[in-house]
Amino acid sequence: MIMPGTQPTLKVLVFGASLRSDSLNVRLARLASRVAELAGATVDFASMEEFDVPSYDGDEEKAQDFPKGAEELRRRLIENDAFIISSPEYNASMPGLLKNVVDWTSRFRPQPFDGKHGLLMSASPSMVGGNRGLWSLRVPFEHLGARIYPDMFSLAQAHKALVGERITDAALQARFETNIQAFLSLAEAAKHYACMKRAWVEFLGEPPSSEADRVDPVPV
Ligand SMILES: Cc1cc2nc3c(=O)[nH]c(=O)nc-3n(C[C@H](O)[C@H](O)[C@H](O)COP(=O)(O)O)c2cc1C
Repeated sequence: MIMPGTQPTLKVLVFGASLRSDSLNVRLARLASRVAELAGATVDFASMEEFDVPSYDGDEEKAQDFPKGAEELRRRLIENDAFIISSPEYNASMPGLLKNVVDWTSRFRPQPFDGKHGLLMSASPSMVGGNRGLWSLRVPFEHLGARIYPDMFSLAQAHKALVGERITDAALQARFETNIQAFLSLAEAAKHYACMKRAWVEFLGEPPSSEADRVDPVPV
């Protein structure tokens, strides 16, 4: 648990990766925001509309024509210490709209996901709560150097489990809160653990070459 008042507050970007009104994932993200605030974090709540982008196009990137949604996600990642995303599962994987904006945003240098601590959660009407989607979502984030928290909360039968922005089962709500608090504690500790800082090298075992390397220096 972060101790409010004893140190600078951890800043956390939180959003649900769905454009749908009455999205279960947006509702879960709002609940996560409240828990994070109670734990002493400063929450920057975003909506997926703010990160809306056209399909990735390498020609536009070459022309330095980055879409506003990707600029916005980059800005919010830089401004915050950590992120929490509640993402739907589509066809046993992550939603295309989220992967697309991650792809765009990953093209900025310095690469803004590197070193950020992330917590993934999902909500779905299904019995597995969208958990398969989170396993697929871990991959690009970890590839990009984000520190994705091992425990991922997937709310099964979310259309029944969530009433408004509340988990009705008290034991489940307690687990949800503990997971967020544990994540925030780790992110807070890591923020002050300078030894963890290192350069991001996309392919560590590749023979170094100035043309092909995608390397970000150690942040200062
Ligand atoms: C294209 C598509 C694929 C889906 N595939 C899955 C799936 O694989 N597993 C699952 O649990 N739910 C799946 N669903 C149902 C979503 O979990 C459900 O629509 C959920 O409410 C979406 O999240 P939201 O409420 O935050 O928008 C799918 C929905 C769509 C539109």
